[in-house]
Amino acid sequence: MLRIGLLTSGGDCQALNATMRGIVKTLINRSPEPVEIYGFENGYQGLIYGRYRRMAAHDFSGILTRGGTILGTSRTPFKRLDIPEADGVEKVPAMIKTYQTLELDCLFMLGGNGSTKTANRLSQEGLNVIALPKTIDNDTWGTDMTFGFTSAVDIATKCIDDIHTTASSHGRVFVIEIMGHKVGWIPLYAGVAGGADVILIPEIPYDMKNVIATIEKRMQTGSRFTIIAVAEGAISKKDAKLSKKEYKKKVAERTSPSIVYDIAKEIEEKTGRETRVAIPGHTQRGGAPDAQDRVFATQCGVEGALGCLDGQFGFMVAQVNGKMRRVPLEEVAGKLKYVDPKSDLVREAKALGISFGDE
Ligand code: F6P
Repeated sequence: MLRIGLLTSGGDCQALNATMRGIVKTLINRSPEPVEIYGFENGYQGLIYGRYRRMAAHDFSGILTRGGTILGTSRTPFKRLDIPEADGVEKVPAMIKTYQTLELDCLFMLGGNGSTKTANRLSQEGLNVIALPKTIDNDTWGTDMTFGFTSAVDIATKCIDDIHTTASSHGRVFVIEIMGHKVGWIPLYAGVAGGADVILIPEIPYDMKNVIATIEKRMQTGSRFTIIAVAEGAISKKDAKLSKKEYKKKVAERTSPSIVYDIAKEIEEKTGRETRVAIPGHTQRGGAPDAQDRVFATQCGVEGALGCLDGQFGFMVAQVNGKMRRVPLEEVAGKLKYVDPKSDLVREAKALGISFGDE
């Protein structure tokens, strides 16, 4: 008997179910022994409190195209891992106990950066863990791609497309907030795909002078509107000079709901142009996975399952230069994959005339 556990952790995304389907189908197809499947509910919480359900192959049928996660998810911050739950339960020992009680041979964890750090910790504690790179943010170190990313880019792009028509009718400036607190992969890709005029991302601090100059130049050359794609975590050059603590304090004291409102206000004041904010928000994590995500999620699931059947654990499934790979958890855990300001795509976007507000 091969006993496996599955859990989905952190913010959801479109291709979690497609990934689990890939794992289970492969195991059932290739395992020489019968497979017993335990699905933990709501991420690591299910593992901590022993909340799980026995699942069968048919539970994973018909879910390739279904967004969200059939298991539910939650955030269990890594930095609080050794702090007992409100009811006194100690998380790590509780997770080990659940794993051992069920006599699991492997735990498949679908999660982003924080969740992968916890997976690494459990692996160091002696559990057989395989991580799969989930996140719309595409910021997982060690893999070219994460599942969820391309679907989110499609949704953010559709938002930029739709805003174009109304911005053009009214001759307005639109500031569109796109997900990404620490990294700017989605705004960068959606901004290029949707033809944004300005893209502001955390990796390239901006100066409002440059943003305003871009808008004014467009107005002078007869453009009726300007579209600005802004990452949730976009940061000005001035703020980038603050210490982490000072910046956190400044963000906590902000009276507007987020940076896009401050940017929009300043633009309206300085250019006299009607400026509006648009926020696709959590729609970027919603709905069905796109075709590319379905393929990549399936590849991740299959590779994870094959690793398990090979008796290999303590790795994260990754794509490196287009090839599926198994990278050691300790090599990737705790590292973020940022947009390189010198990358080809940024260089090309700049050559096209897109401003990043830095020059
Ligand atoms: O991690 C994915 C993500 O969607 C980020 O892009 C975003 O900043 C954050 O989660 C939103 O978190 P929450 O769902 O907790 O509001």
